[in-house]
Amino acid sequence: DTAQGDAQHFWRDQAKEIAWYQFPEKILSQDEDDLYRWFEGGQLNTCYLALDFHVENGRGEQTALIYDSPVTNTKKQYTYVQMRDEVAHLAGVLRDLGIAKGDRVIIYMPLVPEALFAMLACARLGAIHSVVFGGFAAHELAVRIDDATPKVILTASGGLEFDKIIPYKPIIDRAIVEATHKVESVVLLQRDFLEAELQEGRDYDWNKLLQQKTTPADCVAVAATDPLYILYTSGTTGKPKGIVRDNGGHAVAMKYSLPNVYDIHAGDVFWAASDVGWVVGHSYIVYAPLINGCTTVLYEGKPIKTPDAGAFWRMIEEYKIKVLFTAPTGIRAIKKEDSEGILKQNYDISSLKYLFLAGERCDVATWEWASELLKVPVIDHWWQTESGWPMVANMVGVEQLPIKAGSPTKPVPTFDIHILDAEGQQVKPNTEGAVALKLPLPPGCLPTLWNNTERFKEAYLSAFPGYYFSGDGGYIDEDGYVFITGRIDDVINVSGHRLSTADMEEIVASHPAVAECAVVGIANELKGQVPFGFVVLKSGIVIESQQLENELVAMVRDRIGAVACFKNALIVKRLPKTRSGKILRKIMRCIVDDVPFVTPSTIEDLTVLEEIRERVRE
Ligand code: COA
Ligand code: AMP
Repeated sequence: DTAQGDAQHFWRDQAKEIAWYQFPEKILSQDEDDLYRWFEGGQLNTCYLALDFHVENGRGEQTALIYDSPVTNTKKQYTYVQMRDEVAHLAGVLRDLGIAKGDRVIIYMPLVPEALFAMLACARLGAIHSVVFGGFAAHELAVRIDDATPKVILTASGGLEFDKIIPYKPIIDRAIVEATHKVESVVLLQRDFLEAELQEGRDYDWNKLLQQKTTPADCVAVAATDPLYILYTSGTTGKPKGIVRDNGGHAVAMKYSLPNVYDIHAGDVFWAASDVGWVVGHSYIVYAPLINGCTTVLYEGKPIKTPDAGAFWRMIEEYKIKVLFTAPTGIRAIKKEDSEGILKQNYDISSLKYLFLAGERCDVATWEWASELLKVPVIDHWWQTESGWPMVANMVGVEQLPIKAGSPTKPVPTFDIHILDAEGQQVKPNTEGAVALKLPLPPGCLPTLWNNTERFKEAYLSAFPGYYFSGDGGYIDEDGYVFITGRIDDVINVSGHRLSTADMEEIVASHPAVAECAVVGIANELKGQVPFGFVVLKSGIVIESQQLENELVAMVRDRIGAVACFKNALIVKRLPKTRSGKILRKIMRCIVDDVPFVTPSTIEDLTVLEEIRERVRE
């Protein structure tokens, strides 16, 4: 296959751009499960590439990390030397706690420099980190503990959401109690605004451990195919998927993507305004900027109210940021507070060359507003946790193509994107279908799911043999521009956060008054989508609808976390179903959003739709 041959050629050249301990023997191969693997036989260390390499090559005194935290009024910077030392020291501490190559470590932390040190310290030892987003509740953490079976959890006493303190320790304690797997140690960073109690024998104070005599740890060589991290993401069931990222493919993809997609080069200041709990944070707060010798920015704040909607522009001026990467929601939040862009006038943002957006569909209105205000190209690009880096983008580092609003532009080299119909046949241009990628996926993309190759095959490879199915729908126009229209499974995107409606349905269904339910994602002006629950009561149950809604909202918040944004539940008599019993979620979504839909001929009872419409109107 020439495409495959070309891809191998391309990636062999790219692989030469990183400092391997041992260059790979094979560029592309297949393992015993027939899954594709990149760079077999290669030996490297990702932390070495991110830190030590730059210290050894004259970049030691350059700023590696800028930390800016309006919520705590803190600003701090670290050079590559300082960061390497911090990370080597912390890695020494982890090694003393028994962490070695292949062991898992869960990181549940706010956006503080120590969260990055923790990730890199794991990478240094060849241990596998799994960062869990701070907005997830104890139950979600427990599920991840049981799947990743970590020896150690690294955490902090708390985070700050605007001015609200979120204590982390009670969440950690509850999760450890709920999980079956026993965590040996918890290392906790006490923050100035909140002191957490430590449990004798299990919990350690982060700074006290660092103060004890520890030999800094050196980089441990790992195989290219060894996992660097596991990042859980929402699937179509209540159980999240453990996306595996390997060391070799990831490092090469990170090295390639920053200059070519983002036009960011060694010495440039790059800011991904995301969270290390998401893939954007992994790839573009931590690994890509550091592997490329850039200055990365860590912002513990929000686009608005910390202190105002000028926060992003203040950051750009203060640190001479060249590229800002955020989710459309962040821009919509700014637009809502400062629609005229008055606050921008207070800042000199001339360092900014591009604004990149991803994480959810970029609506044309948001794109236009940002383009108008910032007067720089606003670049939409499409990717997901699974890919780890952009699959479709306007590669401004290579050549900026004309922008078509609403399209993330064209496939990135070696992402072989096709639009397929239900039978797996390619559709004509401008026809909507499933967005699928012909195998093999490029380096950096998930090779499999953690300890679950069967689920990997079933969830991604079984729908269309020979292809990876992304879960998204979309079309490609006559010029080859890709348009992503949204998920065609039960995954929703709330403020750029990926959530599973199935997970919420499990919780709602567990309420004693609920016979059955459906949770769908409805359109929301600020957050893109928010979940909306339809519930059918058990017969004979009498409950006031407001009370039921309050209880359901509290349950989802308690189990999944505030980040779910589950705020509405509506009692209905029946759910619309097909004759085979499949719930017609898409139709319910259309009814709430008040958009047209096609009623399937297999619907069991048409009158249900009118009932639902009636209830929504009320
Ligand atoms: N820890 C604890 N709780 C968190 C959290 C975290 N790290 N992140 C969010 N939450 C909570 C919020 O406090 C909020 O709780 P509440 O219901 O008590 O108010 C809830 O989860 C929902 O959060 P969110 O959807 O983010 O809404 P918000 O009103 O707090 O903020 C924005 C809205 C637009 C300012 C915010 O979503 C944002 O900055 N988005 C930028 C996009 C982004 O970073 N996307 C990440 C992927 S690239
Ligand atoms: P996550 O894995 O959390 O990054 O979410 C990935 C999902 O977000 C994708 O499958 C898409 O549904 C959506 N998404 C991300 N980027 C874009 C984009 N640029 N345009 C449209 N949808 C996007």
